[in-house]
Amino acid sequence: MNVQWYPGHMAKAKRMMQENIKLIDVVIELVDARIPLSSKNPDIDSLAAHKSRVILLNKYDMADPKFNEAWQSYYEDKGFYTALVNSKSGKGIKQVKEIIEKASAAKIERDRKRGILNRPVRAMVVGIPNVGKSTFINSLAGRASAKTGNKPGVTKGKQWIRLNKNIELLDTPGLLWPKFEDQEVGTRLAWIGSINDNILNTSELSMELIIFLNQHYPDAISKRYDIPVPEVIEDIKSTLPVLEQIAIKRLCLLKGGEPDIDRAALILIDDFRSVRLGNITLEFPELA
Ligand code: G4P
Repeated sequence: MNVQWYPGHMAKAKRMMQENIKLIDVVIELVDARIPLSSKNPDIDSLAAHKSRVILLNKYDMADPKFNEAWQSYYEDKGFYTALVNSKSGKGIKQVKEIIEKASAAKIERDRKRGILNRPVRAMVVGIPNVGKSTFINSLAGRASAKTGNKPGVTKGKQWIRLNKNIELLDTPGLLWPKFEDQEVGTRLAWIGSINDNILNTSELSMELIIFLNQHYPDAISKRYDIPVPEVIEDIKSTLPVLEQIAIKRLCLLKGGEPDIDRAALILIDDFRSVRLGNITLEFPELA
C-alpha cells in the first residue's frame, strides 16, 4: 500500500500534539466503533502518559450492536473511561461532560490539596483523520464552539471552548496518524474510507471485503443484492463470481456485454460505507 501521503503530515502532527498535550489534563481519543483497534494510534499511549484518558467509540450507529459493549468493556478493563457516541446525531454526547469530570476527579483533588481551587479541567480531542473529531467537537460544544480568535485584531493562539464552569476544551483536535505497518490494519482503514481511495486498488479491496463478509456476515451480500453467494469463499479468485452477479444485477456491463467487475467492486464498497450492507464491525474484541 502506498503511504507517501503520511510522513510530512505525521511529523507536523506529532509536534503539534507534543506541544498541546502539555496543557491538557484529559485526553479524549476518538476511535471508530467498527475498527476500535485499527483506528487507535498506539503512539498516543506514550504521548499521553500520566494524563486521564477517555476513549469514545464514535460512529457506533454504523457498527454491529452485538460488539459495541464488548469493545467498551475491552477498553474499560485497560483503565480508560469510555462511551459509545454518534457525533452526527448527538446520541451519547450528553454523558461525555460527566465522563470528563469523572476522569479528572483525581486531578481536581490533587489541585485542591495544593490549594488550587476552581481551575477548570482542560481537555483535548484526538484521533485519526475522518474519525469524526470536528463533528464531535461541534456536537459537544454546540453554539459555544464559535471561534473568536480568527478575526483580524483578535489575539492569535490556542482557543478554548468553555463547556461548563469546570471544563475547557481545546477547539482544535489533535491529528493522529494511523498505524500502517500491519497490512490488515491498512485494509480495515481502507474499507471504512480512512485512506484516500486514489492510492488504493478498490477492486482488490472489495474482493477482500467479500472474503471477510463471507466469514462473519454471510447473509449481508445475498440480502442486499438478492443473489446466490457460495457458502465458502476463501480466496480472491472465488470472489469473482460474486462481483459478476452484482454487476449483472446492477446492469453494469461492458461493451461486449461482459459484467463490469470494477464497477461492481465500487458499488460494494460504497454500499458498505453507507451501511447499506447492514451494521458491520470489522474486528472483534475476543481476537484482540
Ligand atoms: P475528522 O474531523 O476526524 O476528520 O472527521 P469529521 O468530523 O470531518 O467527520 C468525518 C465524517 O464522518 C463526516 O462525514 C461526518 O459526518 C461523519 N461522522 C462523524 N461522526 C459520526 C457518527 O458518529 N456517525 C456517523 N454515521 N457519521 C459520523 P462526511 O460524509 O465527510 O460529511 P457529511 O456528509 O456527513 O457532512
